[in-house]
Amino acid sequence: MTSSDSIGFVCGTKGDSVSFLVNKDVGLSFGQIVRIDSGERTFYARVVNSESSSTLETIEQLREAEGKEAFGPYSAYRRVDVVLFLEKRGGKVRSPTFNPNYRDKVYATSEDDCSILRLTGELEVGRLRSEDQLLGSVGINAEAIPRMMGMFGMTGSGKTNTELILNAQLIDHSPQTVALIFDFAGQLLEGKEIKPQRGLKDHPLFHSKVQYYSAKDGKMAVGLRTLTPAKLDTLFPDIQPPQRRLAWALYRHFGSDWIEKVQETYRTDGNISIRTQKVVVEALMQKLASLPHDLFPASNYTFVESALQNICKGITCLLDISGLRSEDQNRIVCLCASAIAEHYKRIWEENYEEWHKLPTLLITLEEAHEFLDPNKPRTIFSDIALTYRKYRVGLNAVTPRPSRINFDVFAELWTKVIMKTELKKDRIYLTENTPYMEYSETEIKMLDVGEALLISEPKIKFAVPIKVAHYPEYLEKRGSADYKLPDSSRLSEMDDRLKQLSGQEKLSLE
Ligand SMILES: Nc1ncnc2c1ncn2[C@@H]1O[C@H](COP(=O)(O)OP(=O)(O)OP(=O)(O)O)[C@@H](O)[C@H]1O
Ligand SMILES: [Mg+2]
Repeated sequence: MTSSDSIGFVCGTKGDSVSFLVNKDVGLSFGQIVRIDSGERTFYARVVNSESSSTLETIEQLREAEGKEAFGPYSAYRRVDVVLFLEKRGGKVRSPTFNPNYRDKVYATSEDDCSILRLTGELEVGRLRSEDQLLGSVGINAEAIPRMMGMFGMTGSGKTNTELILNAQLIDHSPQTVALIFDFAGQLLEGKEIKPQRGLKDHPLFHSKVQYYSAKDGKMAVGLRTLTPAKLDTLFPDIQPPQRRLAWALYRHFGSDWIEKVQETYRTDGNISIRTQKVVVEALMQKLASLPHDLFPASNYTFVESALQNICKGITCLLDISGLRSEDQNRIVCLCASAIAEHYKRIWEENYEEWHKLPTLLITLEEAHEFLDPNKPRTIFSDIALTYRKYRVGLNAVTPRPSRINFDVFAELWTKVIMKTELKKDRIYLTENTPYMEYSETEIKMLDVGEALLISEPKIKFAVPIKVAHYPEYLEKRGSADYKLPDSSRLSEMDDRLKQLSGQEKLSLE
């Protein structure tokens, strides 16, 4: 069978759902995209259901099963239900305005269809899956970054690999794009658990375009003198207004080294220099004492400043926060993300020209459910997801538990990479709250490692079945040479200059 042969014909239509009877020996799968040619229109649809049955009476079926009688090729059939999502008429591609006719022919998608579906993008994620074939490249655009993203899938479904692929592409597109990555498990540098093991350090631009910060080598310190009372909400989500007021009073009294001073006074005198209720003092002092000295030393250096400067220059920052206690992980993550996101916001407000020069930022947040759970204190990440689009700051929420992500935030994630998810609660949450996914609940359960459904509105308005590129293979294909530099304009400039020079030489020789 060639890709131009039809795989069946339409046997019924109703609204946007179409049924067709499949020819013998045709392989199909749930979620696969098929094309239906219908006069001047071409429709694209997804396989959502399938049933196989017999045309015979029960008694005839029994006789055939025993081999007593043969009823020929028309005794059994397979019917497949598909849902339309796209229509092409003339040169125009849009949502379906009608449906196909009875007996219209159905085809498996081919490379030609890939270009009609407009699936390519500058940040290539993988390739279109069609049954057991991989067709053209599928990617998202840089404009999708500030429209917020999510990557969901159970353990071992391929989330870390997808993070590596996307962030590697962001590094490739620096300084147009840049990434801030919070790595909770300490996997991404070396690609632990990726087989064969490859991490961001194996990316050819790692040394020029990536800065690695790790809590282990002491590079991740946040000096106490950089902590103004305004940052206490980020550090201690449960802080009460009286404690906040006390902190401001102490800050005004002691200045930037207020935390060290007040801790010293409290240690020696058993009290502090400001009169206030004892419970408030105790509560605040307890909070300050919970900041570990190695992460929060008495200094005025903060790695956040260095990360911010790197991000602004298009240098991706990989923050390995593995090994920290979970409350310290949360503190570091929130402090760093809010400083950087707020910088983008401030530059947008105060120096719009300068803001244009900032790279589009994607913040990858693993364990996103810990920061976006509606039952936990609100963090900077829900603000980023809800309001930072216009500053070109995007969030990539990565989690195996999408149902624990606050609904308002979930609705704002316009790009979603959905990988295998078995837990019913999560599957229902994904399909009920994502446009064009209402028929895909079964499919999500059946995905294999590295297989995913991709939606990236407004460009890709339907769930595209993809196979995410495997990071080790991506590196191999990409090669070590940075063939993007110098760019062609510079080369042609150099060419012109050489020509000029050789012209001058000739002149001077004459
Ligand atoms: N697209 C892919 N193609 C081929 N192999 C893949 C692909 N994606 C992931 N794998 C392999 O599957 C394994 C698990 O992948 P990965 O670590 O990305 O899963 P995960 O979802 O991050 O798991 P966890 O929840 O445990 O962190 C790895 O060995 C990886 O090499
Ligand atoms: Mg992982």
